[in-house]
Amino acid sequence: MHFQNTKNIKKIFNNISQKYDLLNTLLSFGLHFSWKKRLIILLDPKNGEKWADLCCGTGDMSILINKMVCPEGSVLGIDNASNILEVAKNKSKYINNHVITWKKKDVFELNEFHYKFDGICMSYGLRNLKDVENGIKKVYSLLNDNGKAGFLDFNHSSKNSIPAFFQKIYLRFIVVPIAGIFKLQNEYSYIEKSINNFPSGSDLISIAMESGFKSSYYKEICFGQMGILILNK
Ligand SMILES: C[S@@+](CC[C@H](N)C(=O)[O-])C[C@H]1O[C@@H](n2cnc3c(N)ncnc32)[C@H](O)[C@@H]1O
Repeated sequence: MHFQNTKNIKKIFNNISQKYDLLNTLLSFGLHFSWKKRLIILLDPKNGEKWADLCCGTGDMSILINKMVCPEGSVLGIDNASNILEVAKNKSKYINNHVITWKKKDVFELNEFHYKFDGICMSYGLRNLKDVENGIKKVYSLLNDNGKAGFLDFNHSSKNSIPAFFQKIYLRFIVVPIAGIFKLQNEYSYIEKSINNFPSGSDLISIAMESGFKSSYYKEICFGQMGILILNK
């Protein structure tokens, strides 16, 4: 299994923090909002529940969950890059019924809670962790019995498949050149390598079941370009 370098990843997200939302919208043609909403619909957070958004970045998932768990629940948005977390904090000033708190912390250093979460989501976070397997184990340890977790990320399709071919074209000829306009081509060129090192849907399911999850399913979306993993403890 590949291990990402946490320090480099943190540097990347601190560097791109101010442009992150704009680039996400441009590079996904606005579709990332609907993929995120799709994950939330599948997870179905309820009023009163305690949720965590790990690797929250600029906080889109936390803000979506906020609406669903209000007014009695809570959302904790966690990220280890301070600049991107600052963007999340500023965005959340403009929402009603604010039940989100933000925490700067590495996912692997999360031990200190005196409660467990009813649900955890991670959107485009798992692939960026230094160790995917331990990331899934960490999520398991933070969940209540019967808690659920959902992950959205690039789908690692099988080599030489049509989705893998299109993904390569998209990353090399759309993502990196557009990021280049913002002088962020180096930061965005790591995505292709990170997908190559990321487990496929079926491998993610095996890791989850070995980590103790009771049930799991993986769904490819956007013609196999992205994937959603849902786990139940
Ligand atoms: C691609 S962004 C995703 C942001 C957001 N969830 C979204 O979907 O737009 C990945 C985020 O993971 C964070 N991250 C990476 N490794 C982390 C770790 N070990 N602990 C906490 N955050 C981490 C990065 O700082 C970055 O903000």
